[in-house]
Amino acid sequence: MKLEPDIENRRTFAIISHPDAGKTTVTERLLLFGGAINTAGTVKARKSQRHATSDWMEIEQQRGISVTSSVMQFNYGDRVINLLDTPGHEDFSEDTYRTLTAVDSALMVIDAAKGVEDRTIKLLEICRLRKTPVITLINKMDRYARESLELIDEIENVLNIECAPITWPLGSGQHFGGTYHLERERLIPFDREQSDDRAVRHDDGWARDDPRAAEHFGAQNLVTLEEEIELIEGAGNGFNIDAYLQGSQTPVFFGSALRSFGIRELLDFFVETAPAPQSRATDQGEVDPHSGHFSGFVFKIQANMDPQHRDRIAFLRICSGKFEQGMKLHHVRTGRDAVVANALTFMARGRDHTADAWAGDIIGIHNHGTIQIGDTFTVGKSMSFHGVPSFAPELFRRVRSTDPLRGKALLKGLTELGEEGAAQVFRLTNKNELVIGAIGVLQFDVVSWRLKHEYNVDCVFEAAPYHTARWVACADQKMLNKFRNQLADNIAMDGGNFIAYMAPTMVNLQLTEERWPDVEFYKTRELSANNALAKAV
Ligand code: G4P
Repeated sequence: MKLEPDIENRRTFAIISHPDAGKTTVTERLLLFGGAINTAGTVKARKSQRHATSDWMEIEQQRGISVTSSVMQFNYGDRVINLLDTPGHEDFSEDTYRTLTAVDSALMVIDAAKGVEDRTIKLLEICRLRKTPVITLINKMDRYARESLELIDEIENVLNIECAPITWPLGSGQHFGGTYHLERERLIPFDREQSDDRAVRHDDGWARDDPRAAEHFGAQNLVTLEEEIELIEGAGNGFNIDAYLQGSQTPVFFGSALRSFGIRELLDFFVETAPAPQSRATDQGEVDPHSGHFSGFVFKIQANMDPQHRDRIAFLRICSGKFEQGMKLHHVRTGRDAVVANALTFMARGRDHTADAWAGDIIGIHNHGTIQIGDTFTVGKSMSFHGVPSFAPELFRRVRSTDPLRGKALLKGLTELGEEGAAQVFRLTNKNELVIGAIGVLQFDVVSWRLKHEYNVDCVFEAAPYHTARWVACADQKMLNKFRNQLADNIAMDGGNFIAYMAPTMVNLQLTEERWPDVEFYKTRELSANNALAKAV
């Protein structure tokens, strides 16, 4: 198969981190190095501008968190890099998980003073599940930091991933002198006076025996470095590209995003080493990005900034081929073809771009609720991509409108918000009851706020007696019907019309699973047209 250079050049990734570890700052530095922005502060400013144009995101503003994700594209050398922003707050983990299905690799940012934190653990679990290659940056070395060896140990033990340091720090905090590049065998001095938005190139650095090194780093630090290098090399964790690409080893960098230190080395390594767009699994087998035909899947839906026009943008990751404006795409779930003439392409640089996009890129398609998360679009072929998950919620609330006459609007709003992935909606079949399921409690606030402002529905939430939900399937249709009839009080339809069992307690779930050995219970649901789960007819 002929390799298309425009696809081989693409690098699509996301940054994962615990809030406050420095994701925004790193993003900003990367965009600076890529020439996509000119001054530091732009990303943060853009964040606040977004608040200004979008009413419903007042919630974000009030809580100081980022609820939505977007795409930033920039060039570096001959690479085209797509950086997918992941929401920063724990409550929106489901959205983040889905964003991670659309990338080929990830950058994990860890705060050097705090080490591995909760959210990092959860996010890395997802990367491990999908064997996503991860590069690690241990950030904020200009401030107090824990012992480097201890941090490496913690990453290896808590996250269960082998570490291969590429750079190694000399001192930290007040005494941070810079890093040693283990591959290039060069010392890179840190300049404390360096202004924080200057992109400094440390091309050459110094050899370990360079006289400038002793002066800058101090003789003792160089001795400690020798000892630590011996320890690292003795541990045998040299960088192994295959182990990295399989997700079992992570190359590690040390730096200070705020001071633009260590980011250049990281970016140089990233563009050389991180994978280009990869093949992806569908119900018809793997699809190679170079296969020529356009294909892609929707991993996220975002309400338009303007609530007056309830159109939405579906974020589609292109998995193979090339997209051109005006192309006729086949929407596999609905079986319809549609000409896409006004797709958004995410080019952070300039406006004089052609609107073509290639495998690895993300395009935004306007729609009025016709597109759902997990949908596949193709040219020519009919197939569905696997792997955009919906997770069994852990929190449930009954929802009703305070005005009985707004019941219909409530249902419409919930259906649309459910399709967008803002929360999951379950209709209890026996009780005429609507229940919202969420992973994080903040999702309820978002739903309530949006119902009020976009659908003019005041709603109240009440406690719902469910502990968890499981999607069910059974090869024997009669058995499934029996299951549904006997347990009717706990059977619900989700937004995609799939059957779910609403368990009041974990013990009840266990007993039910034991009593119905032929019925399969699923904790996650694949958001794609063809899956094995039972769909209500
Ligand atoms: P996040 O997106 O992961 O939540 O983190 P963000 O980049 O917003 O960084 C969180 C805080 O940590 C910010 O400070 C930021 O300036 C600081 N920070 C990030 N990288 C470094 C670093 O390398 N060294 C040091 N010393 N600080 C760093 P803040 O005071 O909360 O925000 P701001 O007032 O600076 O915007």
